[in-house]
Amino acid sequence: MKMISRRDFLKASAVVGATAALTACGGGDSSSTASSASSTAPASSAPAESGAENAASGSATIGICIYQFADNFMTLYRADLEEYLGELGYSVTIMDGKNDQSTQTEQINTFLQQGVDVLIINPVQTTSAQTIVDTVSPSNIPIVFINREPDKSVLDSYPDKCCYVGADARQSGTYQGELILETDTQGDINGDGTITYIMCKGDPENIDAQYRTEYSIKALEDAGKTVNCLYEYLDNWDQTLAQQDVANALAQYGDQIEVVFCNNDAMALGALQSIQQAGRTVGTDIYLVGVDALADAVQAVLDGNMTGTVLNDDVGQATAATEATRLYVEGEPVEQYYWVDYVKVTPENAADYL
Ligand code: GAL
Repeated sequence: MKMISRRDFLKASAVVGATAALTACGGGDSSSTASSASSTAPASSAPAESGAENAASGSATIGICIYQFADNFMTLYRADLEEYLGELGYSVTIMDGKNDQSTQTEQINTFLQQGVDVLIINPVQTTSAQTIVDTVSPSNIPIVFINREPDKSVLDSYPDKCCYVGADARQSGTYQGELILETDTQGDINGDGTITYIMCKGDPENIDAQYRTEYSIKALEDAGKTVNCLYEYLDNWDQTLAQQDVANALAQYGDQIEVVFCNNDAMALGALQSIQQAGRTVGTDIYLVGVDALADAVQAVLDGNMTGTVLNDDVGQATAATEATRLYVEGEPVEQYYWVDYVKVTPENAADYL
């Protein structure tokens, strides 16, 4: 029997998530903010046209800057944003920063000249967030930062005009460690008392990469395990780089490698190709975990080719970012942070996320 699709499943739960996030952050205004979330968030699988009929009165132009279109997870996220903001009747333009901060800065300047009402920014470099705020703030245009968390001081420097929508990457790292602890051998396939692993990392400046690297291992250590890191590879969220590095690692370290941790699913899918080419079998002589719950990774979990992954809820985050944008457009109070939970994806629940 066909399950509902990942996007429909997430959409159905997104309202609950966004409402919880808003309620959790809210002060005196929380209940009205929360109820706004449920009335406007795209809750059903109804097509965009029917949402557009319910569009908020008035129109707004929204400029969106994505760090790089050639990123699988951000591709899902920007499609969600386009859909949900469109349902509110807003005019939306999305630019590809091509992983180059100066390109993105030019795009932001163009949006400023055009006089957009709200900017949604996924910075190329998180360390450039303060410069971005300093560039935008004279125009008083609000900014919703997404996916790459700037320092709190950056948000504080543009009070009431700047917020962050994201997920706490410590949670995703912890879940990765737990996925390994839940295996038959608790990660110690050869029974030598040590979990020996390699790590494929996202870009080093990114807090998601840093926390996932740290907290996946912390979960093992907190459970009393001894760990041995053979090597940490800088694979920049990229499938091909991870494929090459894991192929080299398997050639170099062979059976010593018990676990391949990947900061995201694109890298895990690259790792899987090399694992299979090397004649290794996930679940039998090696474990493999990622983050994002991309469709191919969820399928791999279902097929037993990945030990597990962690849902990075693009629907929930796009819903919260849309809600923050709407509040800015309508001049209502906006919280400084909106957090969306990660979810562990195992063979048991993977079908829900396809
Ligand atoms: C992470 C995601 C990665 C990549 C990165 C970009 O949250 O897991 O796959 O999209 O964001 O900043």
